[in-house]
Amino acid sequence: MSNHPTQDQADGAPMPAADTAVDTSAGALRLRAELDAGLRAREACISPKFLYDALGSKLFEAICELPEYYPTRTEALIFERHGAEIARAVGQGSTLIDLGAGNCAKAARLFPLLHPAQYVPVDISANFLQDAVERLRQRFRHIEMNALGMDFSGGDWQLPDSVRRERRLFFYPGSSIGNFTPDEALAFLRRVRAQCGPDGGILIGIDLAKDRAVLNAAYDDALGVTAAFNLNVLRHANRLLGADFDIRAWRHRGFYNERMGRVEMHLEARTTQLVSWQGACRRFEAGECIHTENSYKYRPAAAVELLEQAGFAASGIWTDARAWFAVIHARAIRPGAMH
Ligand code: AVJ
Repeated sequence: MSNHPTQDQADGAPMPAADTAVDTSAGALRLRAELDAGLRAREACISPKFLYDALGSKLFEAICELPEYYPTRTEALIFERHGAEIARAVGQGSTLIDLGAGNCAKAARLFPLLHPAQYVPVDISANFLQDAVERLRQRFRHIEMNALGMDFSGGDWQLPDSVRRERRLFFYPGSSIGNFTPDEALAFLRRVRAQCGPDGGILIGIDLAKDRAVLNAAYDDALGVTAAFNLNVLRHANRLLGADFDIRAWRHRGFYNERMGRVEMHLEARTTQLVSWQGACRRFEAGECIHTENSYKYRPAAAVELLEQAGFAASGIWTDARAWFAVIHARAIRPGAMH
């Protein structure tokens, strides 16, 4: 999952990876400025996009294997169980636009069911995407493929003309939507709505609100993989900013904030300490936290309403037996609010 900015770019050209050691590109400078601002803020924060350097991406893959982390496996089960019905709702021959495609594996599993006319994987890491798409082209020669290196987390992304206009189906699995606040999620979905014509739609995976013990375990696992994933953001900050975070002086926190309807991840200072980077120096008190991620959990009705507010109407909602995760297909209904 990497739907986050390094550069404003919508032409599918390669761009530098977010974890390039010495990178003076405009995108890299902007990333450093954002990281710096978050660390200076009164309530320090680091955007979750910084969790995904090379090691962080591998740690996230490891998280998906954990017994406590149910979302990936539950979503896969829903597609397995209800694939035929989902395909009937979605229809065949669509222009499949895969937002945050990564290795393209989730979408590729749907090809035999959906038979898309064109496949458009979109990811911030264009280089990574090119390799994955090259392999897919060999396997599915009849599907036109058009990989895009593009940031779609901001408010002003637009698909290029190379993307077919007919029957656009946006695919946004994995509950990546949970990283947005509900307001941001609505703005994002309106953007999607504006990019799909009257015959378009969205197929989205959303993690559902549930028992706090399940969520607490999923984001603070026994093995400590999520802790490593969270703490790794400090290594990334050390590399990007030349900071001197002492990883051992921080502790992972991951818990369900029921009032806010979200899981939060923080890093808590074990001791009072000084951290410096690029001429800046900050004192963190023992117990002080850096907020690193929100992961919103929805009730099915709230998810459907969010889609409706964005100009979609749900045509199908599929969940697992425990109702822990939902896959929703929604069709475009009213014109999008934006161009
Ligand atoms: C990739 C944003 C869906 O929120 O569950 C996993 C990231 N963070 N464990 C999530 C994550 C901690 C994940 N998303």
